[in-house]
Amino acid sequence: MPDHSPLVQSLRTAVAGAPDDVPLRLHLAELLVAGGHHDEAVAEVAVALQHAPGDPQARELMARAMGAPPQAPAAPEQAPQAPPTGFNWQAAEDQVGDVVPPRFVETPQAPHAPEAPQAADGSGDSGDADAWEVEAPDGVRLADVGGMQDVKDRLEAAFLAPLRNPELRKLYGKSLRGGLLLYGPPGCGKTFIARAVAGELGANFLSISINDVLDMWMGNSERNMHEVFETARRQAPCVLFLDELDALGAKRSRTAHSGMRNTVNQLLTELDGIDAGANEGVFVLAATNVPWDVDNALRRPGRLDRTILVLPPDAPAREAILRYHLRERPVAGIDLRKLAKATDGLSGADLAHLCEAAAERALLDSARTGTVRMIGMKDLLDAAATIPPSSDPWFASARNVAMFANEGGMYDDLVTYLKKKRKL
Ligand SMILES: Nc1ncnc2c1ncn2[C@@H]1O[C@H](COP(=O)(O)OP(=O)(O)O)[C@@H](O)[C@H]1O
Ligand SMILES: [Mg+2]
Repeated sequence: MPDHSPLVQSLRTAVAGAPDDVPLRLHLAELLVAGGHHDEAVAEVAVALQHAPGDPQARELMARAMGAPPQAPAAPEQAPQAPPTGFNWQAAEDQVGDVVPPRFVETPQAPHAPEAPQAADGSGDSGDADAWEVEAPDGVRLADVGGMQDVKDRLEAAFLAPLRNPELRKLYGKSLRGGLLLYGPPGCGKTFIARAVAGELGANFLSISINDVLDMWMGNSERNMHEVFETARRQAPCVLFLDELDALGAKRSRTAHSGMRNTVNQLLTELDGIDAGANEGVFVLAATNVPWDVDNALRRPGRLDRTILVLPPDAPAREAILRYHLRERPVAGIDLRKLAKATDGLSGADLAHLCEAAAERALLDSARTGTVRMIGMKDLLDAAATIPPSSDPWFASARNVAMFANEGGMYDDLVTYLKKKRKL
């Protein structure tokens, strides 16, 4: 939402210079609410509440930023004592209780061993000794994700700010029960971002591909799904990342597979959480390259109800990715900015490949001439000219969906991007 007034912009600068100044930050938040920038306001008030958890003005502002109608208490059915005006913060807290964690939907992770023999006879106890590998926080943070400011802002406002603040957790536990679905072309950072979110939360990370949960033996997929969630619960706080969510898609013909429906249902059960608090500290993120194959039941409110489009890296992101992949290689005279300019359209994975290819050229050359030389701009630019963007085919399908199947505005972000790129 770039249409900020000069006043908002200078307040932002002032707040950046005085991050502890609560009244100043609230003033900024007030203007953001007035301008309809609710997500941004929520993020600001969340920070203010960290400094001053009990501040009544901050609480009231948060209520408005979160869309509580000024006259109605958030939980009217349980708040007979609600004052006639203003958000009844106390009632809302009472209602949500102490331990309603925000939860994110999603899928189980791949088993360690590919198709263990006991799975094949359908009777084996795959054991609950964690068959799914959980990674401890490894220090990857959103700051390590190059560029993509949009995606980071949305993650911060919709997801991280509320989670970082215990007061907000209680409220959001109620109102933001659902999880987050990342979608976009392959190789553009969905997995990387999910890992960075775990890093931001200081949480463990359990990444599984739905394909690894699916089992040709009836019943095993459901059990696998349950085990994945149980593993995440044992390891809480844990980000549970369900990759290739579309593998469960009821829209695909191959999902005529008889057990598929049950597996989807099992996932819904796990997401919805039977016992209150079962998913405390379990944050579900899911990803897919083909969101149009994802079962709609999974996208209903309270499930994977928010989506974030993860696009091919913008120029700053490409610079960061290139710097990363060249960090330990013998390079000389590399103009990263220029290189980033020359690689528009390439995915993160394409860029990794590009650096490989350039290194190979320099190496072959050194071997041929008998003189070792560094990897130079020319190696990289020549390699770039030979690598077609791997997301082109994805955009061809996405274009059709954007044109003909944008039900309920689900793909508005995609439409905006395609128009900007003149691909629509
Ligand atoms: N914005 C980014 N900043 C740094 N590295 C990135 C970025 N986007 C992608 N990458 C790198 O590109 C590669 C592919 O990303 P990945 O997360 O596996 O893509 P996806 O899950 O969308 O298929 C990874 O090596 C990742 O580290
Ligand atoms: Mg991935």
